[in-house]
Amino acid sequence: MADELRIAVIGLGHWGPNHVRVFNQCRGSRVVVGADPDERRRNWVLAQSSDLEVVSEAEHALERPDVDAVVIATPTRTHHALAKAALEAGKHVLLEKPMCSTVEEAEELVNLARTTDRALVHGHVFVYNCGIEFVREHAVRGEFGAIQYVYATRTNLGPIRYDVDVVQDLATHELAIFDYLFGELPTWVAANGSRVLGTAREDVAFVALEYGSGILAHVHVSWLDPQKTRRLTLVGDRRMVVWNDVDPSEPVRLYDKGVKEEPYYDSFGEFKFALRDADVLIPKIELREPLRRQAEAFVKRVVEGTPTRSEAESGLRVMRCLDAIETSLVSDGRRCPVPR
Ligand SMILES: NC(=O)c1ccc[n+]([C@@H]2O[C@H](COP(=O)([O-])OP(=O)(O)OC[C@H]3O[C@@H](n4cnc5c(N)ncnc54)[C@H](O)[C@@H]3O)[C@@H](O)[C@H]2O)c1
Repeated sequence: MADELRIAVIGLGHWGPNHVRVFNQCRGSRVVVGADPDERRRNWVLAQSSDLEVVSEAEHALERPDVDAVVIATPTRTHHALAKAALEAGKHVLLEKPMCSTVEEAEELVNLARTTDRALVHGHVFVYNCGIEFVREHAVRGEFGAIQYVYATRTNLGPIRYDVDVVQDLATHELAIFDYLFGELPTWVAANGSRVLGTAREDVAFVALEYGSGILAHVHVSWLDPQKTRRLTLVGDRRMVVWNDVDPSEPVRLYDKGVKEEPYYDSFGEFKFALRDADVLIPKIELREPLRRQAEAFVKRVVEGTPTRSEAESGLRVMRCLDAIETSLVSDGRRCPVPR
C-alpha cells in the first residue's frame, strides 16, 4: 500500500459525494476514482473535485490495482453484488446502510470478509455521532443507573426510497445505535406499519423491541411527517437523558430526575412514590462531523487493524433485527424472536 489509502467511491448520487469529501479531508486517504452510470452525477462530482477520475462502470474502479479500498454508496439492492465483487478483488469495503437486502446476503459478505482477511465496515454513521457517544459513555459508566427503557423517533418529509421500506432506510440507524449501547441483539421485536402512499412498502412504522435484561425499546420512523425529528430518550433509575440531533446547540440534556418508592407511606396509589425533580444539565459537547469520524475510523481499521464501532458483525446483528421486524410487519405486529 502507498503512503495514502487510495479509495474508490461507487455511487455518486445524493450521499456518495459526501464520502468523496470526507475521505479527501482525512489525513492518510485520497479518493482516486468514482463510479456511477449516471453522467450528470459524474459531471457534478468532477465539478466539486477535479482531481479524481470518474468511470461509468463500478468494475473499472474495482479492477484498478492502485485502489486499496472501496466505499459503496449505491441503492441497497446493489450492495451485495458490489461488495462481493470488491472483496473478491481484494479491496477493503465500507458499505452503506442497510447492509444488504437479506440476512443470507449479509452472512455471505461477513464470511467472505473473514476468508479474504479484508475489512468490512458499515455506514452506521450515528455510532460516530458525538452526542450518541456521550450517551453511551455515560451509560457504560452507570451514570443513568439501571436502564429502564429507551425510545427513539426519526421522521421527516421524505426522502422516499424505492428499493427499501422506511424501517430498512431509517430504523437501521436506531438499531445500530441500540447495538452500540447494549452490544447485543434484542430478544424479540414487534412492528406495525402503514403504506400511506399506496406503494408496496411501509412508509410509516412503529417498532417495539426488548433487550436482554428486560429493557423495553421503541422506534418510530416515517417518511411522511411535517417535522424533521431525530431524538432518543433513555430513562434510567438514577438519571434520564435526551439526545436531540436537530439542535446542535443542545444535542444532549441530562435530567437528574427519577421516581423512588417511599420507605414508609400512609396511603395507597401514587403517594407511595416520591418524585425526584432536580437539575437539568446541558453538557458542553464538541461536535465533529460523524461521517468524517467514520472515515477516519475506516482508515485506521485498514492501516492499523484497529476495530471500528461498525464492524461486519454489528452489521449482521442489525440485519437480523431488520429481518425479524419485516416478519412482524407482515404478521400483524406479532412478536418475533430475533435469531442469534
Ligand atoms: N449513512 C447515512 O446517513 C446515509 C444517508 C443517505 C444515504 N445513505 C445510503 O447510501 C446509499 C445511496 O443513497 P443515495 O441517497 O445516495 O441514493 P441515490 O439514489 O441518490 O444515489 C445512488 C447512486 O448510485 C448510482 N448507482 C446505481 N447502481 C450503481 C452501480 N452498479 N455502480 C455505480 N453506481 C450505481 C446511481 O446512478 C445513483 O447516482 C443507500 O444505501 C442509502 O441508504 C446513507
